[in-house]
Amino acid sequence: MTRGGPPVRVGVLASGRGSNLQAILDATRDPDFPARVVVVISDREEARALERAAARGVPAVHLNSKDYADRDRYDRAIVGVLAEHRVDLVCLAGFMRILGPGLVHAFAGRIMNIHPALLPAFPGLAAQRQALEYGVKITGATVHFVDEGVDTGPIILQAGVPVRPEDTEETLSERILVEEHSLYPRAIRLFAEGRLRIAGRRVLVEATP
Ligand code: GAR
Repeated sequence: MTRGGPPVRVGVLASGRGSNLQAILDATRDPDFPARVVVVISDREEARALERAAARGVPAVHLNSKDYADRDRYDRAIVGVLAEHRVDLVCLAGFMRILGPGLVHAFAGRIMNIHPALLPAFPGLAAQRQALEYGVKITGATVHFVDEGVDTGPIILQAGVPVRPEDTEETLSERILVEEHSLYPRAIRLFAEGRLRIAGRRVLVEATP
């Protein structure tokens, strides 16, 4: 998107701990990184993600869904904050709500999500537990564009993580998280460099010009 222009303006939506947000914030410390986080929005007031944003001087906004009559109005409030901060790219980082069609269409092709499994395996909640219960030998992390489904949009990047016999949900989640933290900034960089092209279900990564 930028190719030598101003940095891409990223809005992050997060519900909790915010370690992926932190990885993105850390990546943007590099002056050559082609994106900046300009706002963080959370549906939970106590989300650690809001503290992490504030610690970096990034506007941190809590939007309580209970203050809105329905999902559509809540999503419109989110779009309003994103528009106010002139966001180019929306990154869901542990945002535990499903986006409605209004929000998805307002940022069509410009919303990414990170998921702790190799999609299309184990979508939805507790992906690491699902992988352990199923008995797969390899799981991992996925960054994908968001469409109207749950974890169904075109896949941008994936990284595999072996499941060890002694793994618990916690140990497996920790090892997947290490991959998430390098995958998400890489995906944002590719987007910001204008190198991602959605072709049906596939995301083509173009070579550096
Ligand atoms: C991450 O593991 C992310 O992949 C997952 O929530 C965690 C958030 O951690 N997201 C989902 O499961 C979405 N379906 P964080 O708040 O430390 O970034």
